[in-house]
Amino acid sequence: MKVSIPKEILPGERRVAAVPDSVKKMTKKGIAVCVESGAGGGALFSDGDYETAGARIETSVEDLLGDAEVVLKVHGPILNESIGRHEIDLMRGGTALIALLYPLVNHDLVKRLAAREITAFSVDAIPRVSAAQSMDVLSSMSTVSGYRAVLTAANALPKFFPMFMTAAGTIAPARVLVLGAGVAGLQACATAKRLGAIVEAFDQRPAVKEEVESLGVRFVEVPLGKGEEGETAGGYARELSDDYRRRQAELIYKHAVRSDVVITTALIPGKRAPVLITEQTVRDIKPGSVIVDLAADFGGNCELTEPGKEVVKHGVLISGLTNVPSYMPLHASQMYSQNVENFLFHMMDKRGLKIDLEDEITSGTLITYQGKVVHKMTLEAMAAAGGA
Ligand code: NAI
Repeated sequence: MKVSIPKEILPGERRVAAVPDSVKKMTKKGIAVCVESGAGGGALFSDGDYETAGARIETSVEDLLGDAEVVLKVHGPILNESIGRHEIDLMRGGTALIALLYPLVNHDLVKRLAAREITAFSVDAIPRVSAAQSMDVLSSMSTVSGYRAVLTAANALPKFFPMFMTAAGTIAPARVLVLGAGVAGLQACATAKRLGAIVEAFDQRPAVKEEVESLGVRFVEVPLGKGEEGETAGGYARELSDDYRRRQAELIYKHAVRSDVVITTALIPGKRAPVLITEQTVRDIKPGSVIVDLAADFGGNCELTEPGKEVVKHGVLISGLTNVPSYMPLHASQMYSQNVENFLFHMMDKRGLKIDLEDEITSGTLITYQGKVVHKMTLEAMAAAGGA
């Protein structure tokens, strides 16, 4: 079996889909691994590191992708401007692609993959079941983002995070509010706590209260209405009533205006991120405070976030940096690579890749197969958008 790892070409992306350690494990299994020259550069892995791990280095991306049975990538395929060809068109029909495709929102990409008969697996769709924990790319990347968000805030804040009692007086600790206590939010809570801040967290899923409190963080609660549920059967957040959203906005306002840092991480799969911080809230937050909006990739949780930028509005720094894991490319690549390697090995038998449609992890992650879109949630999202 031939596995190819191209260099990521999305501007600003520094991660690589497979690190030399993973390549070594693949070659041990008899897989022929081919890596595009420079693919690991952004994450500080040289071509020599890959060669030592048993990979062949390829300089032509056309040859690398045209020859592959399996392609491992971080991002979904895009136009390669340097050669004027789309990455999808460089792959043969029947090639298996494993990447972060976000098929619930990237419908044109999904259609194009189906038309080209690519067997596309989207690792953001890996079911959140215990058997797939070692493949959970979303959790790995959220861990990186949650940690990084706190460092971004601490770096920009004109204050200390911890309390200090010094000869020059007592310094009060910073107050941090985390909105959304999924994987990224919990990591942000833990990191901010370690730096000595007073931390509060809010989530619409009451199930996370215990996890938040186990970190020594205060859980800010908006009681759900009668018959209202904050999460889907899959454990993700669901959109809630206008009444709940009004009560939620009031509470968030109250806690946000007394915070020095607000880190927002709230997402609803396949939807625009919910707006939790309004312009009015930003106006009333203390000048010099910092908002780090980790939902910027999906429109942002703050009304004034400008995705991809850091801006100052009403005296408050709002960081809307996108693709945050790429700012820590070494460990982000290492974690991504380990997850993807586990997923690939899960689907292999002695003869190579085996697509078992009865397997929950394989079928839950398979988006396009034999010229068709086969992923139920993607089909539903496309139908809802009128594009199926
Ligand atoms: P996510 O990235 O989709 O969302 C982040 C957080 O935002 C979630 O906790 C969500 O409840 C919250 N949120 C969404 N809308 C909100 C709103 N309007 N107000 C306040 N909070 C809001 O979530 P993530 O981190 O991907 O986790 C999703 C689920 O998957 C969780 O139930 C988590 O426990 C579960 N999970 C399961 C794993 C496993 O069993 N292998 C591994 C990791 C997560």
